Amino acid sequence: VEPDALLEELAATVGSRREAGWLLEEVQSLAEPARTDRARTLAARRAAGEPLQYVVGHWPFRDVDLLVDARALIPRPETELLVGLALERLAALGRPGVACDLGCGTGAIALSLAVEAAARRLEVQLVATDVDDAALALAGRNVARVGARGVELRCGSWYEALPVSLRGRVDLLCANPPYVAHAARASLAAELGYEPDGALFADDGTDGTPGLAAVEAVVRGAAAWLTPGGTLLVEHGAGQRAAVTALASASGLVDLVDHDDLGGRPRILDARRPA
Ligand SMILES: C[S@@+](CC[C@H](N)C(=O)[O-])C[C@H]1O[C@@H](n2cnc3c(N)ncnc32)[C@H](O)[C@@H]1O
Repeated sequence: VEPDALLEELAATVGSRREAGWLLEEVQSLAEPARTDRARTLAARRAAGEPLQYVVGHWPFRDVDLLVDARALIPRPETELLVGLALERLAALGRPGVACDLGCGTGAIALSLAVEAAARRLEVQLVATDVDDAALALAGRNVARVGARGVELRCGSWYEALPVSLRGRVDLLCANPPYVAHAARASLAAELGYEPDGALFADDGTDGTPGLAAVEAVVRGAAAWLTPGGTLLVEHGAGQRAAVTALASASGLVDLVDHDDLGGRPRILDARRPA
């Protein structure tokens, strides 16, 4: 099929010329008839409701292009903001730093930090963790893909995954834990059904805040792992600001700031262990 005709056909299948263009780009390097076959397969997946990012199989996040598939959450623009804050903190250290990305999924946070820190000549030792082996396998492929150096992947639940040698020594703790309440499942867009449950949903917090349990585990454990003056950056749900800041304060953290995302919604807790 000629490229123009194929573009029209794909646009009709997926209902968007822009998306059809992206799909066509993905198959450009193939010879016919594999190119048309592959393009039609991708378009059919998209038309069936699968997120475009999974259909394409890779997606940009800040300066890196990451492999994305159903093993891990599709990295979101909100999280790019968290990485920007994290880099500022690493730069302010003025010495080599230790940073952790808890619940790394594709590796978006840790790998962006590794790549952008290297570009700014900042030295950082990174540990990226996940409880889900399949997500970690994907993160491992992304480490190789972006050529990140100094990133160690470890499996386990939150702080249990970290080597004890880092206890009290971490300069920067980053996490984007699951924070959607199970009760909200029915009201969510169907596309979210393609992402792993464990990346999206969490139990309610001990204070009853919907979906707070994973964020709570990260915030409560932070002071023990941070170095004095070290920073915790945690993404959370828009309705969780009051509960998250109360938790951080009760967990001995100070200098609490909660940043809005680009849409003006409460999104990132920024706190420190006292110096
Ligand atoms: C919202 S996703 C974030 C993924 C990635 N950091 C990002 O920002 O795109 C949450 C991640 O936390 C992981 N996770 C869930 N429960 C966990 C636990 N108990 N310990 C460690 N990771 C966990 C999930 O497997 C998932 O990869």
